[in-house]
Amino acid sequence: MKKIKITSIFGTRPEAVKMCPLILELQKHEQIISRVCLTGQHREMLDQVMGIFGIRADCNLDIMREGQTLSRITAGILEGLGRFLDVEEPDLLLVHGDTSTSFAAALAGFYRRIPVGHVEAGLRTYDMSSPYSEEFNRQAVDLVSDLYFAPTELAKRHLLEEGKDPGRIFVTGNTVIDALKDTVTEDYSNEHLDWAAGSRMILFTAHRRESIGEPMRRIFRAARRIVEEFPDVKLLYPLHKNPRVREPAREILGGEERIRLTEPLDICDFHNFMARSYFIMTDSGGIQEEAPALGKPVLVMRDTTERPEGVEAGTLRLVGTQEDTVYEEARRLLTDGGSYQAMCHAVNPYGDGHASERIAEAVIKWFMERKN
Ligand code: UD1
Ligand code: UDP
Repeated sequence: MKKIKITSIFGTRPEAVKMCPLILELQKHEQIISRVCLTGQHREMLDQVMGIFGIRADCNLDIMREGQTLSRITAGILEGLGRFLDVEEPDLLLVHGDTSTSFAAALAGFYRRIPVGHVEAGLRTYDMSSPYSEEFNRQAVDLVSDLYFAPTELAKRHLLEEGKDPGRIFVTGNTVIDALKDTVTEDYSNEHLDWAAGSRMILFTAHRRESIGEPMRRIFRAARRIVEEFPDVKLLYPLHKNPRVREPAREILGGEERIRLTEPLDICDFHNFMARSYFIMTDSGGIQEEAPALGKPVLVMRDTTERPEGVEAGTLRLVGTQEDTVYEEARRLLTDGGSYQAMCHAVNPYGDGHASERIAEAVIKWFMERKN
């Protein structure tokens, strides 16, 4: 059989966390020639993940600019990737999730009639403003994809309801669980954890575009009130690199000795911090998938979630971005033992850690069947 040339394209931290396990799996198959193209939508936060997994890219479009707009990201990728693909001529493009990189890369493939495989296909809120612009991106990617790697049965159902061909949908689990299998270790130690020892540590992250401005200021004020009220609580917040997040975070959360604002943690550190936290407050997508597997309660500071599996399982609670609600829900977890324990059960709606293997197998089988 002729070898299958697969180019995986990604550009932000969460895509890298979820694509690197798959790249390592693709490299094991002799039928596959695996190439990696980074858009560079993120820089330091992407390099951090690539370093941990030891994966080198074959190309990096390096498009990141401070304060980049959605138009600029999309246009930069369409231009740069177009030139790369014209030379590369892969048999299949793999893209991940719902970022501007995912959308622009899938579109670049579609324009060249290169088959597109969507990893983490079928997630939906059906609300174009939340998360913004991710709901558009993921639906648009699914519009032009040829293969759908759905993490859960619910994601598959969304795709079927939208009329996608069932023969092209594969329920694989989420590759983030593949990554999580190896990162959390018993003997892990870290200076920030020494600082938090003896306290109840809240691990905090926030970066969503639709929250930037007043909603983000509200959730920061709620977090500060919580720390000021509970002397045994410490809050650790690895800041996203976006200056529009960092400035209000420093202004509202700075100057309190039981709050630490750090640089982004690498994925091993972050997973180990999650495993040792009391609970997590976040607007992240990926963390909503990782935390249930670790049995850690999560207050999701957003109005919608495309991960209802974790809400149904009881470890995620959607709390919005109103200051009083966020404060009350955090307070409840700190004062009501029953409520806290009810959210602590480790459940894993996102697979068994073998998603990458299933995706690689599905791709090979699809190409073999196409040949026959
Ligand atoms: C992007 C994705 C979002 C994803 C998030 C993960 C889109 C529209 N958004 O949002 O879906 O949840 O990544 O983190 O695709 N920056 C740096 N260094 C970095 C990364 C970012 O300095 O390594 C700064 C830059 O000033 C950049 C800004 O952060 O302009 C925003 O980055 P951008 O990728 O546009 O948006 P995110 O909020 O990161
Ligand atoms: N993460 C990390 N370091 C941090 C914060 C998060 O490695 O300091 C990881 C986290 O474990 C998850 C991913 O980054 O795998 C989530 O990325 P992010 O929240 O930026 O994006 P989203 O998932 O919301 O798209």
